[in-house]
Amino acid sequence: MANNDDQFKKVISHAKEYGYVFQSSEIYDGLSAVYDYAQNGAELKKNIRDYWWKAMVQMHDNIVGIDAAIFMHPTTWKASGHVDAFNDPLIDNKDSKKRYRADVLIEDYCAKLEAKIDKEVAKAAKRFGEAFNKDEFVSTNGRVLGYQEKIDTILSRMAKSLENEDLADVKALIEELEIADPLSGSKNWTDVKQFNLMFGTKLGASADTAMDLYLRPETAQGIFVNFLNVQKTGRMKIPFGIAQTGKAFRNEIVARQFIFRMREFEQMEMQFFIKPGTQKEWFEYWKETRLKWHKSLGMGDDNYRFHDHEKLAHYADAATDIEFKFPFGFKELEGIHSRTDFDLKQHEEYSGKKLQYFDHEDNASYTPYVLETSIGLDRMFLAVFSNALVEEELDNNTTRTVLKLPAVLAPFKAAVFPLVKKDGLPEIAKKIVDDLKWDFNVFYDEKDAVGKRYRRQDANGTPFCITVDHDTLEDNSVTIRHRDTMEQKRVKIDDLRDIIKKEVDVKEWLMRM
Ligand code: GAP
Repeated sequence: MANNDDQFKKVISHAKEYGYVFQSSEIYDGLSAVYDYAQNGAELKKNIRDYWWKAMVQMHDNIVGIDAAIFMHPTTWKASGHVDAFNDPLIDNKDSKKRYRADVLIEDYCAKLEAKIDKEVAKAAKRFGEAFNKDEFVSTNGRVLGYQEKIDTILSRMAKSLENEDLADVKALIEELEIADPLSGSKNWTDVKQFNLMFGTKLGASADTAMDLYLRPETAQGIFVNFLNVQKTGRMKIPFGIAQTGKAFRNEIVARQFIFRMREFEQMEMQFFIKPGTQKEWFEYWKETRLKWHKSLGMGDDNYRFHDHEKLAHYADAATDIEFKFPFGFKELEGIHSRTDFDLKQHEEYSGKKLQYFDHEDNASYTPYVLETSIGLDRMFLAVFSNALVEEELDNNTTRTVLKLPAVLAPFKAAVFPLVKKDGLPEIAKKIVDDLKWDFNVFYDEKDAVGKRYRRQDANGTPFCITVDHDTLEDNSVTIRHRDTMEQKRVKIDDLRDIIKKEVDVKEWLMRM
């Protein structure tokens, strides 16, 4: 594909054309940064959620899952710090009247410097060929070191200013770097202001008694407020985890890049309750475990990297992102946060209820520390989908569009075709579908030539196509075609289930972790 912008446009249009993602309320011209998952998208999303749930809950004896409500008592958000501190620093351009996140403008500036480093590396790799040592080059080349130093200085100054709420310095930094409005080119900026990201709503019918509520901006707090209920009823012993998946809402200002940053999205979070003082080892453990989960999907080990936070959220003593190489560059996919005892202590203070754990081994009570893993389901969807979409040159000088989804996540595992719509072939094909659908999502298609049906399923991400032909009437065998290799084999109808299972079974995939 030509360049990253083109590739991303292709991802968005493919998602629509093949029934994965639609703009919400499209007939009314849509709602910005809100999307609907279509018939295939809903299946892919469910499969990603299941893959996460199985790895985190089913495969861990000491992790259980809950499903807390979206509405929570408003004091929750006072206690968690979201009412006072869940803000983005905003800046307006006086000429274009466009609003931006000040930190994103600065980060985008640094991303351009990073692109310059990448260019230097690519040039040198070409020059030195086989002998090229990237690590050595980036640690010794003067130009690269200069760019890197500039990036580090800018980002650490920004982190410090945001930490100290020194918004005047954030503006000064934008001006010093001569950052212009990306749309109009104007450098005529307002002051930087903080803007709270939570959506408000009301509970109750009458105006005087209605209670102000927030739509939850993260699922994590539903876990914290249930910590003791789950610990007691589940007789959980520390260390243990509580997981949940569910919707979260944020009034994002810079809502662009399709489903990367949405106003309504879904999170898959796990809070792991540990003994104070053990947070460093658990931080390392969950970093490694979560990276292994990502890599088990075979989407390219080089497409992931850790990015440690310079600016820590109000609740964390350490934090890192697992970044993924999206079509628009490396960006945060998952966060791993060492949240200390901040949340439980705050809820104790605001509720007046004890949220402590009695450790029988130590014969003492304490407020547990928490290690959090938090991944956006929609963002994971975008990672999987964008990575899978490829245009392949074939031997006969044609191309095909293939969605090489990890088979375990594909919406449909197989499509079954009768070669022709007569001679009893559709009946056999439909019987195969009826038989396989107990185990897998299977699709029936009898329209158009078989070659065209193959292409449709390639673009849809279906790992197997099964064709019933006239020989089937004689020998009870069918042709099975593999999406990625396009290899075709003759197999017995009775063997189909096992052949498909081997490639799509969650166990086979999670065993790679
Ligand atoms: N409980 C911690 C927490 O919410 P976060 O870094 O704000 O941490 C965690 O969010 C993950 O949720 C992110 O890594 C990202 O994958 C996803 N996420 C956050 N905001 C999002 C948005 N506006 N749209 C889509 N996904 C989002």
